[in-house]
Amino acid sequence: MPDKFTEMTAALHRYAVEHSDRDELFKELAQETDELGGVAVMMMAPDQGALTTVLVRAIGARRALEIGTFTGYGALSIARGLPDDGYLLALDVSEEWTEIARRYFERAGLAERIELRIAPALETLRGLEASDPFDFCFIDADKESYPAYYEEALRLLRPGGLVMIDNVFRGGDVVDPENEDAATLAIRELNDRVAADERVLSAMIGVADGITLALKL
Ligand code: DHB
Ligand code: MG
Repeated sequence: MPDKFTEMTAALHRYAVEHSDRDELFKELAQETDELGGVAVMMMAPDQGALTTVLVRAIGARRALEIGTFTGYGALSIARGLPDDGYLLALDVSEEWTEIARRYFERAGLAERIELRIAPALETLRGLEASDPFDFCFIDADKESYPAYYEEALRLLRPGGLVMIDNVFRGGDVVDPENEDAATLAIRELNDRVAADERVLSAMIGVADGITLALKL
C-alpha cells in the first residue's frame, strides 16, 4: 500500500482554510500584517490558528505561554481558546510589532487575559517559577534559541501540558543536507531531540511550515 498521504496543493490549502474557524478580526489582522511586507511570513497561518484555538480549548488550558508574538495572530488564536478567566503570557522583543498585537487584543475583547512582556524571552522564562505551571506553550521566536525555549517550556508546563513548536520544516531546509545555516541546524537538533525525548509524546504535523505537538508526560 502506498503511503497514505494527500499532497498539499494551493487549492487544497485554500479549501482547508475555508473549512476552518476564522473570525473577521483575524482577517483584518492578517491584512494589516501583510502590509508590513516580507516580515509577514512570520505570521501564524490561518489553518494553524484555528487548530491552535481548538487544541487550547480541547486540553482545557487556563494558563498559556507564547514565545514570539509578532503582530499577535498566534496570541489571539491561543487567547480565544482560553476561558474568561484564562491567562496568556506573550513574550516578544519588538515594541513596534506588538503595538499592532495590542490593538487587536483590545478589539477582540481579549486584552484582559493577555500580558505582553517585551524582553529577551530567555530572561523572562528563566525568571518564571515552575510552581505556577502553564497548560499550553507555543514556541515561535528566534530559531537558534529553540532548543533552550523547549527546555524552559517543559520545565514550566504541567504534566499533560502541550507544547506547539512552529517552523519545524524550516521551509523545507530541514531535509536539505546542504543547508547548514544556524537556524536550520538548531531546528534539526531540536526535531531529533524531541522525537527521542521520553519526557513527551510527540507528533510532527504538516500544517503551514510544519509544527510539532509535544505532550508533557
Ligand atoms: C520565519 C520565522 C517564523 O516564525 C515563521 O513562521 C516563518 C518564517 C523566518 O524567520 O523566516
Ligand atoms: Mg513561526
